[in-house]
Amino acid sequence: MDAIRQRRSIRRYEPDEIPPQVLDKLLTAVRLAPSGGNRQPWKFIVVRDDKTKAGLAEACRWGRFLGQALLVIVACGAEGQAAARYRKDEEIDVVYGEPVPKESEALEYYNACVTDLAIALDHLSLVAVEEGLGTCWIGGLGERIVKELLAVPDDMMIPFVMSVGYPVDWPDARPRKPLEGIICYDSYR
Ligand SMILES: Cc1cc2nc3c(=O)[nH]c(=O)nc-3n(C[C@H](O)[C@H](O)[C@H](O)COP(=O)(O)O)c2cc1C
Repeated sequence: MDAIRQRRSIRRYEPDEIPPQVLDKLLTAVRLAPSGGNRQPWKFIVVRDDKTKAGLAEACRWGRFLGQALLVIVACGAEGQAAARYRKDEEIDVVYGEPVPKESEALEYYNACVTDLAIALDHLSLVAVEEGLGTCWIGGLGERIVKELLAVPDDMMIPFVMSVGYPVDWPDARPRKPLEGIICYDSYR
């Protein structure tokens, strides 16, 4: 709860290095994340190289600060390996790492890949706080350019990346809706 309360999106970083054991802890938090059907349909690229970070900053319209971060974690997901839910003949079914049958109704289709990646990076963002590190999600990226830059195979998706580094400062908490605005009990009312 302390880490959840302290976490902020950090967009300005100090140049200090991250000790190897701290990086190891962050990556272990990623590794231990749950995923649909335990498929772990992911690979994470840790970008440390300055030139590559600058390339990423260029490719991320909403992440121009990426060049200053110490690390950028690029979350790559394989939808084809992830758990998927679909509807067939009035029945809800789940497949694990297999194509959804063509006859399924597209509207009911749900693939867990993005969810799985988000859980993993959320783990990382909270452990980072515990280590005095700041992070920021960046979903506003040019996926095709990022994939080219990092030689990511065509069948992988990159829904977001995350910057990591020691914050210049911890901004004030950004507002959240009050509990009564987002929680209801026993039905959607
Ligand atoms: C999925 C996702 C994508 C985001 N994409 C961006 C982004 O492209 N650029 C950015 O600066 N912040 C991005 N953010 C950060 C949000 O703007 C931020 O979490 C929100 O304003 C709340 O602020 P806080 O994280 O400090 O509590 C993203 C956050 C999430 C969860």
